[in-house]
Amino acid sequence: MTPSGANGHIGKREDLLVHEREPFNSEPSSAALAEHLITPVETFYTRNHGVVPTVDASTWRLGVDGLVQHPMTLSLEDLRSRWREHTVVATLQCAGNRRAGLMAVRDIPGEAPWRDGATSTAEWTGIRLADVLRDAGVSVDEGHVAFAAPDEAQDAHPPQGYGSSIPVKKALADEVLLTWAMNGESLLPVHGAPVRVIVPGYIGARSVKWLRRITVQRQPSDNYFQAVAYRLQPADADPSAGAAGMPLGAVALNSAILQPTDGEQVPAGPTTVRGYAFAGGGRRVMRVDVSCDGGASWTQADLGVDAGRWAWRLWSATVDARAGEVHLVARAWDDSAALQPADAADLWNPKGYVNNSWPQVEVHASDRS
Ligand code: MTE
Repeated sequence: MTPSGANGHIGKREDLLVHEREPFNSEPSSAALAEHLITPVETFYTRNHGVVPTVDASTWRLGVDGLVQHPMTLSLEDLRSRWREHTVVATLQCAGNRRAGLMAVRDIPGEAPWRDGATSTAEWTGIRLADVLRDAGVSVDEGHVAFAAPDEAQDAHPPQGYGSSIPVKKALADEVLLTWAMNGESLLPVHGAPVRVIVPGYIGARSVKWLRRITVQRQPSDNYFQAVAYRLQPADADPSAGAAGMPLGAVALNSAILQPTDGEQVPAGPTTVRGYAFAGGGRRVMRVDVSCDGGASWTQADLGVDAGRWAWRLWSATVDARAGEVHLVARAWDDSAALQPADAADLWNPKGYVNNSWPQVEVHASDRS
């Protein structure tokens, strides 16, 4: 954990679990995450591959080029005045969310042991990327839209600015925004000020911060974080071999138990279990079940407020915890009737992405006296 007072100056709460200070990588505690449907900015996780760049909003410019008829150079004022503003509630989830569960199966050297907190939800305000691309005269319907940023990623080979891409079809969807506000306030530097892309339903890596350039092209971005990292490799692949595996786009159905937490003492009897479920890809969470006997029997959870198809669903269930060791498990289904995979051991992969196995928590229930 970080020394107290170390996070406030960047707009973050002090009790975050800080995986790395520079670049700054942090996640909230489960208890903090469970409190709000819309995660407060100070609580929202941060994932950075390089040092947060200082970008002056008044001189910042966004280039739009590549396979467009009218390349553009836009100021923040241009974005605000030329296109209609939209707000989307969207959950961001890092592909490394819940990696700690895969590391418990087998070590993953060089990667941070993210718990359940590399997932948070905000209300994002900006303009539709589609509106900008249409006015630029996008001339392809197959192809990719690449995003480039100035932050020098320290873990890229060779060292390079951060970048990524999404298919043109997704880029033209209404939900994809160029945003300057998060929960009604100007973006913090650590979250990508002055402008970042938000790609709802896709892994967080595609929501590029400190956006500087948008390029329409036939191929996916050749940036390290599209071509090499954020790809799902089979368990027996050699991660140093480069671009093997499949690029990660839409988030896979996932869930977490946020309360109680692993190792917690609870009174025996009715126990409320809380968590989140996120279907990803624009699918909806349809059902969550909770077990307090390691999966032998199940109770259907109540789903909380529906904030739309790009947001997680918080849930809660009251189960009867017998005195002794209690093994809590959860499982979620989405609207394609997909059920989360049960076992993390089946999901282990060399970079530790997409652990969407059933979350499991051990608590100790003691008799009330
Ligand atoms: N954009 C830039 N320019 N640099 C980065 O390191 N990290 C990506 C994405 N966009 C990153 C970036 C990753 S891996 C994730 S999960 C999200 O930002 C995290 O967004 P947040 O820090 O606002 O929570």
